[in-house]
Amino acid sequence: MDIVSDPGEIRTRCREWARCGVVTGLVPTMGYLHAGHGSLLRLARERADRVVASVFVNPTQFGPGEDLDAYPRDLERDAALAATAGVDVLFAPTPQSMYAPEAATWVEVPELARYLCGASRPTHFRGVCTVVAKLFLLVQPAVAVFGEKDWQQLAILRRMTADLGFPVEIVGGPIVREADGLALSSRNVYLSPEERAQAIHINKGLELAAAMVAAGEADPAVVLARVRGYFASYLPDGTVDYLSCVHPARLYSLERIDGPALFAAAVKFSRARLIDNRLVDAVAPPR
Ligand code: PAF
Repeated sequence: MDIVSDPGEIRTRCREWARCGVVTGLVPTMGYLHAGHGSLLRLARERADRVVASVFVNPTQFGPGEDLDAYPRDLERDAALAATAGVDVLFAPTPQSMYAPEAATWVEVPELARYLCGASRPTHFRGVCTVVAKLFLLVQPAVAVFGEKDWQQLAILRRMTADLGFPVEIVGGPIVREADGLALSSRNVYLSPEERAQAIHINKGLELAAAMVAAGEADPAVVLARVRGYFASYLPDGTVDYLSCVHPARLYSLERIDGPALFAAAVKFSRARLIDNRLVDAVAPPR
């Protein structure tokens, strides 16, 4: 596996591959790779002849006061994991090589970015869309893989890809969890032992929502009230940023669950803000 840091070099290599008919898969990451990223890399490996993984802690998606400087980084470890997962090229650029000092162009999907995480992180998704668009232009992948844990990001990137006509198939990779159900995240390292023990209840609360829908409850307000109560009891050190029941693609809050619905939550602990979600489908109403 090669490590490339120069955007010009990755563009030249990927252009050369495209000229030879090679199908390229891209897995964009911010590094500090874990088994969740491993599963995304495997999905790309199954679909493409060559796999590029990017490791770039993208400054434009962090707001003022967020954890840009503290975000965990370990390129050596990332390179070892990527090589084991069959990555051909690890692209690890610097912020200076990705953004000109006078850069003033953004790619945005405001209609979808205003909900869920976008409500408390108003500039986050334009940073994500802008860097992913830049990566698509450099790597020209036929397929790009993103995790379903960041469901809103995935929905926004699908919209961006369709709207801008990028010839890229967007693939979502299922959430990978610890044995006790906590969704894997690079930010889990920020949790204190007490917070780590409580954090499993985010997934358990979402499971409770899914069980209520499976039992026939169709009113999101009833389900959300019950899960809010559960979170209040089991997440004493966490602050719920949001707990919502939304349309899975368009992300607006649902008034009734009569088809697919996404329960999504964000919980802030002292140093980590964790997100998780669960897709449910309503029990068909009796005729
Ligand atoms: O999901 C992430 O790690 C980042 O938001 C992404 C897609 C790599 C863009 O920086």
